[in-house]
Parts: sequence; structure tokens; C-alpha cells
Amino acid sequence: MKKINPTLLKVISILNDGQYHDGTSIGEKLNVSRTAVWKIIKKLEEYNIAISSNKGVGYCLAEPLYLLKGNDIKRNLQNKNIKIDLFESIDSTNQYLKQKYDSDIHICLSEEQTEGKGRLNREWVSPFGNNIYFSMSYLFQKDISELMGLSLVTSLAVQKTLSKWLEPLEVLIKWPNDIICDNKKISGNLIEIQAESNGFSRAIIGIGINVNMTHVKSNKITQPWTSMQNISGEIINRNVLVANLIDNLLDNLKCFENKGLNFFIDSWQHFDFLKNQKVRFISDMHKTEGIAKGISEKGYLLIEDKNGNIRNYSSGDVQLLRKC
Ligand code: BTN
Repeated sequence: MKKINPTLLKVISILNDGQYHDGTSIGEKLNVSRTAVWKIIKKLEEYNIAISSNKGVGYCLAEPLYLLKGNDIKRNLQNKNIKIDLFESIDSTNQYLKQKYDSDIHICLSEEQTEGKGRLNREWVSPFGNNIYFSMSYLFQKDISELMGLSLVTSLAVQKTLSKWLEPLEVLIKWPNDIICDNKKISGNLIEIQAESNGFSRAIIGIGINVNMTHVKSNKITQPWTSMQNISGEIINRNVLVANLIDNLLDNLKCFENKGLNFFIDSWQHFDFLKNQKVRFISDMHKTEGIAKGISEKGYLLIEDKNGNIRNYSSGDVQLLRKC
């Protein structure tokens, strides 16, 4: 686990003008040695950031890189009194908060995850500097059994956040946690819940959003994906985006605490990517095909079989077979 290196931030801000800068002049500006600058450049290369280096001329960033800054996030937040831990690299932001046992809201963000986790034990590929890897620890005065719909409530907060940036393009939700734009996955969430004493439960709400990632070296992404920059053609300011996400998520969590999942069912129907589509559902216990018919009041997926019977499914993987 590594906190953000302040010299790394300063070197990037010098290189962000797109011009070549040599190690000596960067070092003089920042009052550090040329070797220290060289180490930062190597570090950026290890993070797969494209840097051209030209003997005698120096280094140049192929694309500007805007890293997350705690103060910029807080400045754009409505809910200011929240603890935010920001890392340059971490195994997993969910894992970090799981070990904290917080009673107050606590957020963890990282520029890179070395062991990012997705649903169903998949890996969440988490390269440095361009995306959002976000987790929030939130204590509910509810039993674990009442938190079934939390993934849907979280997906709706992400949907609202992304739509504001990507409109007029439609941002939809694929049950239970995929955010889809242009028929490709742009975000996912992973909720991990721990039971506490006295009827309390702590939720670790992990959200990954593909923001300024335009290509990826890993071949481990198994489904079609896109990013906010791919869709909008613009570099997205991740600090403002994270602040919007936190505000929307907190609004939804408070509403969920007070009014339950019922309050969200209508908006879910509105953004349901699978509604009336032919789907295949797979879990340890079931494998079935049919037409998706929205969600139950508990947040289960409803699928109509060929005989017209509608059954509900609580957890598993659902694939779109054909757009009807
Ligand atoms: C999925 O769609 O399978 C869920 C992806 C969740 C990824 C996020 S990134 C931040 C947080 N930390 C993790 O290790 N996973 C979640």
C-alpha cells in the first residue's frame, strides 16, 4: 500500500504541458536531484504511462495525466465531513476498508489496484491513473437480510452520476451491478457485508468506473468494455466525478435506510438494460433461459420461461442472448 508521492504529482504537473523537459531542469524546479526525477519517470513507466524520452531533450508525456487530489474532491463535495484515504497503489480498496471496522463513513480511493476484485471471484483489472477504484464503508442499522437490494441502490447512484456526464447517451443498468453504455460495460460494483452486534451491518461498497482508459494491456477483461473518455471523446476530471459519485451514493443510501428498496423500483425499471430481453441466467443452482421481466420487491431478477411462468433469482450471472 503506497500513499501518493508528492514529487510524482509535481513531476506530472510539469510534464502535463505536452512539452519535453530534461531531468536537470525538472529537478531544479522541484528542488530534487536529477536521479530523483529519473526514479519518478521509471515509476511512471512501470505504471504503463506512455512517456517518450529523447536524449538531450528530456521527457514528454504522450497524454496529460490528472491524478486524484483529496482537496479537489472535498472542494466539490456537498457532504464535506467524510474521511477519504487516497493511495497511489493498493491491493484492493474494498480489502483496505474491510480491515478498518469503521463506525463512521470512510472512503478509500487508489490510482492502481494490484488485486482488484470483481463479482463472482473475477479480477477487476485496475491500471494506474485513469479510472476510479472507490470503496465506501457504511454502517447500517439494519440486519444483513435487509441489505439485499444494496447493489441495485448503488448501481442507481452510479447510473445517475454517469448520465450527467455522458448525456444524451443512455446509461443503463444490467442486473445486478453492471453499468452499460453503448452496449458495453463501463462500471461495476462489489458489495461486501459484515454482520455487527445489535442488529447493525457494515457494508463495504466497492465501485470501479472506466474513466479515461482508452486501451488496456491486460487480456483479462472478459467482456466488451468502454470508458467515459471513449464515449465522450473528452478527458474527464476524475476529482469532480468522484465528488458527484459520493454525493449521489450518500443520497441513495440514506433513502434506502429510511424508505427501503421499494422507493427505487420505479427508477430501476426505467434504466433496466435487460427488460423484456431474451437472457440466460447461470448460478451454482440454476441454469435457465427466458425473458427478463425486471426485479421483485426484494431486488431479485424476474425471468419468464417459455410457459409464461415468472420465477425470481437472487444471485448469479445473467447474459443477454438477443436484443428483442
Ligand atoms: C464487478 O463488476 O464484477 C464488480 C467490480 C468492482 C470493482 C471495484 S474497484 C474498487 C473496489 N475494489 C475492488 O477490489 N473491487 C471494487
